Amino acid sequence: RVDCHPQPGASQESCEARGCTWCTTDVPNAPWCFFPEDSPYGYSLGGNAEKTDKGWSKLTVSPSVCHRWDSPLVDLFFSNQYLQITTAVPSTSVYGFGEHEHVSFKHSMDFVTYGMYSRDQAPTPNANLYGVHPFYMCVEDDSNAHGVLLLNSNAQDVSLSPNPSLTFRTIGGILDFYVFLGPTPENVVQQYTEAIGRPHMPAYWSLGFQLSRWGYGSIDVLKETVNRMHHYDIPYDVQHLDIDYMERRLDFTYDKENFAGLPEYLQELRKAGMHNVIILDPFISKDEEPGTYKPYDLGEEMGVWVNNSDGVTPAVGEAWPPGHSVFPDYTNPRTVEWWTQLCLEFKNVLDYDGIWIDMNEPSNFLRGQFPGCADNDINNPPYIPSISDRSLAQKTLCPDSKTYLGEHYNTHSLFGWSQTEPTFHAAQQATGKRAFVLSRSTFVGSGKHGGHWLGDNFSQWKDMHYSIIGMLEFNLFGMPYIGADICGFNYNTTYELCLRWMQLGSFYPFSRNHNEQDPAFFGEEFAKISRATLRIRYSLLPYLYTLFYESHVHGNTVGYKVPSAWRGTYATVDAPLNKIPLFIRGGYILPEQAPATTTTKSRLNPFGLIVALNEQGEASGSLFWDDGDSIGESGPPL
Ligand code: GLC
Repeated sequence: RVDCHPQPGASQESCEARGCTWCTTDVPNAPWCFFPEDSPYGYSLGGNAEKTDKGWSKLTVSPSVCHRWDSPLVDLFFSNQYLQITTAVPSTSVYGFGEHEHVSFKHSMDFVTYGMYSRDQAPTPNANLYGVHPFYMCVEDDSNAHGVLLLNSNAQDVSLSPNPSLTFRTIGGILDFYVFLGPTPENVVQQYTEAIGRPHMPAYWSLGFQLSRWGYGSIDVLKETVNRMHHYDIPYDVQHLDIDYMERRLDFTYDKENFAGLPEYLQELRKAGMHNVIILDPFISKDEEPGTYKPYDLGEEMGVWVNNSDGVTPAVGEAWPPGHSVFPDYTNPRTVEWWTQLCLEFKNVLDYDGIWIDMNEPSNFLRGQFPGCADNDINNPPYIPSISDRSLAQKTLCPDSKTYLGEHYNTHSLFGWSQTEPTFHAAQQATGKRAFVLSRSTFVGSGKHGGHWLGDNFSQWKDMHYSIIGMLEFNLFGMPYIGADICGFNYNTTYELCLRWMQLGSFYPFSRNHNEQDPAFFGEEFAKISRATLRIRYSLLPYLYTLFYESHVHGNTVGYKVPSAWRGTYATVDAPLNKIPLFIRGGYILPEQAPATTTTKSRLNPFGLIVALNEQGEASGSLFWDDGDSIGESGPPL
């Protein structure tokens, strides 16, 4: 059954009016209105098509009813604001599509639909979240794998059906498919990242443990937090500054009252071998006194904002800063100039090492900008994909807003992606070192310039579980610098959950606690266990760094590997609260280095090797080593 009425509200009448078949079923989620075998709609595949052992070749597509081919493609629609194609897949082992909170890595094919449209949305199973990755991998029954990308930035959804088949629906752009033939899953990701851009090489310090919190409120609380981390000797490299460091949440300012002395304090942290990351949001207040807020005045002068549908007046919405805000249009080269200048100038105020770009879906606390969205086909298209609220404007700008690259309708999900590259270059220029950019909204290719965290998760056991799936998926998407807020972001955590999460999070590629309950909060015993698990992370950092190097150069995944000599067994192991069970694959050598409280110090310590033999008594491994933060990799692989 291929759904003939994907929008809500199907009835027998509306179904049959389309020439489709109505037949109720108690199979969960199965469409009741579906295309008949001899559907009069769509395009047919014909011409001199030839079936080869690899599939079909020389296919032509024509908009008429004729003979239907027994082909892997079962239908195609190509109309204004609605493109749909269904393709058979060779097995039900389908992975990927994002960004969502998926409850299993391998998808259910029981008529599941995922919407894709970037949105400021706390992780909720299957809802469209911050980024868009229309990429999947299919592992065939003979264990060969292939990957497919639909390079399309419009609001879209995909339905997975038990045939097994996939139905893609998008409301604009073209059907631009790329196929990656593997044959191993790892080869698929290597080929995919060769096409979309290899992941950036992270600085060594950014593999250290990181601490953040929204709500320190004052420099005193920040200092207390840092001090208790140091008191317990917990490995810790990076301190993040969330929006409360700003004056009234205005980008490129700092709160000189509550955070008086912040510039000097950041210098102190640097002297202790630590690094600092600041948050920047993509909305600029327009309501400050003229002449007092340069980011707005300069941006206005340079004409860098996303505009209303007239293409001239800036779109005005509401976000963190008081009053009303405008939105920089990063697809415009002038905006890149403006942003770079501000980032460079701000480096002289706060000596940051990295930039965290948030809310860049882009988020707006209204449904469209003022005064609301006009009623037209762009804002209210005939079909709205299966996204939250079935609205393109909810929590963001109206689709008919104008960006340099085109209508927001087409470019919406590219907002975070378009901000990431300029921020990467600005950070690189400002620091003279390898850039650190952490972006909430991502698109195909974002991994080349930034990393990602899985957003505003909840302090719940299931969120901890799903974080592992999210991380595996972002490895498929070519963004291996990935982590989730350790201990959770929303709700209150508990001692046990937070401790288990510290243990798991110690092995996230990007390891950051962004919760009031930092590892030193719960006292001696908690701190001791956190320190022990983070010390294991720090000992293995040369290995993790090497994996990132492999990913940067060859496109490998970081953090999951299935050895080709692999045989599965089940075992029950003890996992008391003070211990996370860790396993090493036989046949591998892991480089290690004695841990310390920062990577600045641990990098000076002696190296060692952990050698785990396979059944043949053999093992191999590699090490990449360089100075850890120069632009480009500054050393040959050892
Ligand atoms: C968003 C971010 C979160 C941050 C908050 C305040 O919700 O996802 O990480 O703490 O904004 O800046």
